[in-house]
Amino acid sequence: MANAKNGSCDGALKEVRRSDFPEGFVFGVATSAYQVEGARREGGKGDSIWDVFCEKKENIMDRSNGEIAVDQYHRYKEDVELMAKLGFGAYRFSISWPRIFPDGLGTKISAEGVAYYNNLIDSLLEKGIQPYATLYHWDLPYNLHNSMGGWLSEKIVEYFALYAEACFANFGDRVKHWITINEPLQTAVNGYGVGIFAPGVREDTSIEPYLAAHHQLLAHAAAYAVYKEKFKATQGGDVGLVLDCEWAEAFSDKEEDKIATERRLDFQLGWYLDPIFYGDYPAVMRQRLGDKLPKLSEKDKELLSNAIDFVGLNHYTSRFISHVQKPRGIHFYQVQEMERIAKWNNGEVIGDKAASEWLYIVPWGIRRTLNYIATRYRNPKIYVTENGMDEEDSEISTLSEALNDIKRVGYFKGYIAAVAQAIRDGADVRGYFAWSFLDNFEWAQGYTKRFGLVYVDYKNGLTRHPKASALWFSRFLKGEDDED
Ligand code: NOJ
Repeated sequence: MANAKNGSCDGALKEVRRSDFPEGFVFGVATSAYQVEGARREGGKGDSIWDVFCEKKENIMDRSNGEIAVDQYHRYKEDVELMAKLGFGAYRFSISWPRIFPDGLGTKISAEGVAYYNNLIDSLLEKGIQPYATLYHWDLPYNLHNSMGGWLSEKIVEYFALYAEACFANFGDRVKHWITINEPLQTAVNGYGVGIFAPGVREDTSIEPYLAAHHQLLAHAAAYAVYKEKFKATQGGDVGLVLDCEWAEAFSDKEEDKIATERRLDFQLGWYLDPIFYGDYPAVMRQRLGDKLPKLSEKDKELLSNAIDFVGLNHYTSRFISHVQKPRGIHFYQVQEMERIAKWNNGEVIGDKAASEWLYIVPWGIRRTLNYIATRYRNPKIYVTENGMDEEDSEISTLSEALNDIKRVGYFKGYIAAVAQAIRDGADVRGYFAWSFLDNFEWAQGYTKRFGLVYVDYKNGLTRHPKASALWFSRFLKGEDDED
């Protein structure tokens, strides 16, 4: 079987050190507004689709929501101090659109919302931490959903551009790295297809996911154009798009499995990057979807053409892929379970697991993903904008157990070493952000999964406690010898 060989980390670094990375390489931590801020009704904020989605309790595994989350809205200073103490050089956070424009329409800006992010950004810079701001991390103003169908409507492109412009104008003197949209694939598929994410549209064989993706792409390009025309010359920042991609490895040497694997990558990355780099959706998407896939007009193509300064990659895991004769739903590949393959491989275990059912620990997958992006898309600047793993909350009984996250230390060591290797292979990777700084609201999984480097004690005043992984990271960042 091809996989045993491919799975070995040929040439991988044994011990990773900060000095394995080029000068200027950024190490940071990431979060998003709905997952950490809380303060649902404070500061004049409007409702987002996630506020409303969580009101239907059965949408979230533990029937929770982000109304308080981990209260970063009130504790940002403490959080920034902790980041600085640990030695992180950057913080990727997201701006809540309905905090800036409560009804999303781009006319009535909330001074309180602007003030909150000004304070956050200033606190970061005071501590020497670079702000990386995401404009859209899934919390669409509810009004834009309710009145026009959210990402299904073409009108949203214009509203997003107005919102982006307001953010560039208010924060761009200090924010030099912008991410327009986080994981449009998840919004398209889970928000407008499977329906397990807000706004919960369940039409998984229909046109909705492709339309939602199309409008997100155009919104990204419109925001990129606004920056280029009005701000680039004076502010000098970069604007990128964040995509999620699991590495896809062919399940066997059979030609049809190899083709299915390519198809899978096209349906994850190509869907968003091909229109930007090559002027249209991947041919295989057009073949498989026919008229369900929206057409890009000449004007769209022009707007999208090279509209990206860097590719943000959210990467957690890898999959073996095999061909299926009759695909169901919106994907045209079959996901094979890594565990089963490990057994078939004479018992050689090549993938350990985290808590989320989709998260297999496969460090070499990130190296391949980065190299794939470099080769396929003309070696763009890349930031790893998320990477990390979770534990099951219910399996943790004491604080000391929670803080002893040895598996996560291993995860980071392995993945970060593989990133260093990709750089040696020639990929232009400029930075790496661990997901997540803090335990937080994990969307449909609620608080049952913990992705944090820092433990949040949900039962005792939301106090913060750095886990072993945070302390390992801190030593790594300071270039201290690894004692583990
Ligand atoms: C990607 C998303 O951007 C983030 O919000 C989420 O918490 C992580 N994946 C983990 O699932």
